[in-house]
Amino acid sequence: MIEKHKIVVLPGDGIGPEVAAWGKRVIQAIGESYGHVFEFEEQLIGHAAIEATGNPLPEETLEACCAADAILLGAVGHPKYDNDPTAKVRPEQGLLKLRKSLGLYANLRPIRIFDELVQASSLKPEVLQGVDILFFRELTGGLYFGPSERKENGNVAVSTMIYSKDEVRRIAIKAFESAKNRRKVLHSVDKANVLEASRLWREVIQELAPQYPEVQVHHMYVDNAAMQLIKCPAQFDVVVTENMFGDILTDEASQIAGSLGMLPSASVGDGVGLYEPVHGSAPDIAGQGLANPLATILSTALMLDIAFGLKRESQAVIDAVDRVLKYGYRTADIADENTPAGKRVGTDAIGQKVINEIELAVSIA
Ligand code: NAD
Ligand code: IPM
Ligand code: MN
Repeated sequence: MIEKHKIVVLPGDGIGPEVAAWGKRVIQAIGESYGHVFEFEEQLIGHAAIEATGNPLPEETLEACCAADAILLGAVGHPKYDNDPTAKVRPEQGLLKLRKSLGLYANLRPIRIFDELVQASSLKPEVLQGVDILFFRELTGGLYFGPSERKENGNVAVSTMIYSKDEVRRIAIKAFESAKNRRKVLHSVDKANVLEASRLWREVIQELAPQYPEVQVHHMYVDNAAMQLIKCPAQFDVVVTENMFGDILTDEASQIAGSLGMLPSASVGDGVGLYEPVHGSAPDIAGQGLANPLATILSTALMLDIAFGLKRESQAVIDAVDRVLKYGYRTADIADENTPAGKRVGTDAIGQKVINEIELAVSIA
């Protein structure tokens, strides 16, 4: 009997539905080309869910996610809340609660440069030589989930960075294991010169290091790491860091890859995983067919590999993206002055090109 893979799709807000649609179509194309059965179920999250139910993560969405084999997310967020700091119910709460409820403590964010996009990067080509970084961003602790409150009649606000040794250890082990199988260099990024939570973080990394003698460990302060990423990104192999630092550093690192619209991610724990582009709902370009769907499409490649063990199919998606870029097709975020008008395309055109390439590769194999 053919195994069925159940995927919950959470389109969310802004460009979320535009890019998630192409993630879904790419998985369907892989299913048809390679003989796998993927079943899809769409559910609400974020602003879309608040509008329909008053809740950014309705019970039905959480239940469907718990019962799924993998989850694909577009993005959440809406200017209505971005511009109202007093709003109590917010789209982002839906995503945070989903990550926490599913125990998705490790967010893998690979930074790779497609050869063709070297020109799209803000960095010089020689600085980009040999860059291949894998971030492990801690995703269910730190400032995002520590005690948080308004006090003194609303005039003082507190957010707390809190970590237990166990929380640090489980993400650190994932990062060490990954480094062991890559170039064996691990940068642990913290702010241990100031923050107690970072000193605990550093202590745990130091405790684990002797178990991985083959891995070279570097501790780096986050302010220095932000600079080193731009100065010499090739020095990094695996980077492990806490939630907020990982959020900020990976948006920064997206410029190494050329665009935020190119960065995929996988959020994993001990059960079902969530596959999500690093970018947000991009209200400035939403509804115009301009969004780059490649971050979401590359997130499906992570899903095929990590959730389903379909390495060949995962590589087929990456290779298809690579060829589409080689043929010169570019969404606005990765186009430059050398991109001819005929190769400047929107979300749907580039998404369709990727699917054509997936199908073509199988038909000539
Ligand atoms: P953003 O990532 O949405 O956009 C930042 C910039 O990058 C914008 O100029 C946008 O047009 C561009 N961009 C992002 N994705 C792109 C793509 N696929 N193709 C082309 N250009 C792209 O970040 P923001 O503007 O700070 O936040 C907007 C909203 O998204 C906020 O409500 C925020 O909370 C939310 N957000 C959600 C997620 C998520 O769902 N995972 C992540 C980040 C931000
Ligand atoms: C991300 C986003 C989220 C985060 C927000 C929307 C909660 O910026 O996925 O990077 O900060 O984790
Ligand atoms: Mn972010």
